[in-house]
Amino acid sequence: MSKIKLFDPSINKSEYIALKKVLQSHFWASGIGNGEVEKFENKFLKYINSKSCVAVNSGTAALNLALSMYDIRNKEVILPSLSFVATANAILENGGIPKFADIDENTLCVDPKKISKLISKKTKVILPVHFGGISSDLTEISKLCKNNKMKLIEDAAHAAGTSYKNNKIGSHGDLVCFSFHPVKNLAMPTGGLISINSKDYKKISKILKEKRWCGITNRKGVNYDVKTIGWNYYMNEFSAAIGLVQLKKLTELNNKRKKIAKKYSNEILLENKMPFDNSCSYHFYWIRVKNREKFREELSKRGIETGIHYKPIHTFTLYKSKIKLPITERVAKEIVTLPTHPNITKRDLDKIIKTVNKFS
Ligand SMILES: Cc1ncc(COP(=O)(O)O)c(C=O)c1O
Repeated sequence: MSKIKLFDPSINKSEYIALKKVLQSHFWASGIGNGEVEKFENKFLKYINSKSCVAVNSGTAALNLALSMYDIRNKEVILPSLSFVATANAILENGGIPKFADIDENTLCVDPKKISKLISKKTKVILPVHFGGISSDLTEISKLCKNNKMKLIEDAAHAAGTSYKNNKIGSHGDLVCFSFHPVKNLAMPTGGLISINSKDYKKISKILKEKRWCGITNRKGVNYDVKTIGWNYYMNEFSAAIGLVQLKKLTELNNKRKKIAKKYSNEILLENKMPFDNSCSYHFYWIRVKNREKFREELSKRGIETGIHYKPIHTFTLYKSKIKLPITERVAKEIVTLPTHPNITKRDLDKIIKTVNKFS
């Protein structure tokens, strides 16, 4: 019995050719050789239609750098708790205070009404996560940001290819952070990117490029200066070369994910499941079941891998607080994620749906 994986990057000959080219160039780091990183930034910029894009080596690096652009020391950042822990870690890393808001039960994205209750004089940033690829309510969240002079930084790790009101995610918030981790819709060995939409995008882009490489600036040959702290966050040429190939296929790959999600949505009998929305990238598909442990075990026995996204961040020792997030906590006990990757065959899909309906 072959296993149906939860995540699986879709590759063909083109990735091999792209990799070989970089390998043979002998220039593997960013900024030299074939210039794949810059090419990737330019192509992704065109794809999402923002003002500027800065490639980095992970979604985590993108979040850390994005938050480092606004002095959030002892300031509050509002985010959902139902996310990967990197979303909140980036706030701590920058000396900020995470404030977890509850989610909308329909989309599992952060609820603007819950956000507004948490806004205080100390709030500086709102950090929504486009959960599973469904866009957060950017209209309401942008209004809150504007009215309270806060910045909008989006965690778009799941949302490469998602649209919101006919514009691609990446073209809305001040800074939008993508992950190109191998499980993501646009897969690289490791990679991330910050998309910039603020008016001062030229300045921000310049600083981000310095920060992604140890703060190095004004480089002339072997001579350079350092004015700000920076890290080794730059994307390498192999990742960018694969990313260029994956970007060309992204619409096609996401269309396959949408087809899978549509079939889940139509044929899974459970009431509590991810809604179908043609503008969603469907990084995964979530359902909610009461008997989760047994349910996952039965699927696993039949070769179907499932996931749990996520254990809520506010329940981790590092983040433990007295806050109550009733919807997040309820969902977290029931959520199961199903595969949507483009390597799923029709047979796999029929098997998953049949098994889910049998054991849920
Ligand atoms: C919602 C979310 N944010 C941030 C990240 C971090 O991205 P990376 O793994 O590329 O560092 C991930 C990755 O899993 C994620 O799912």
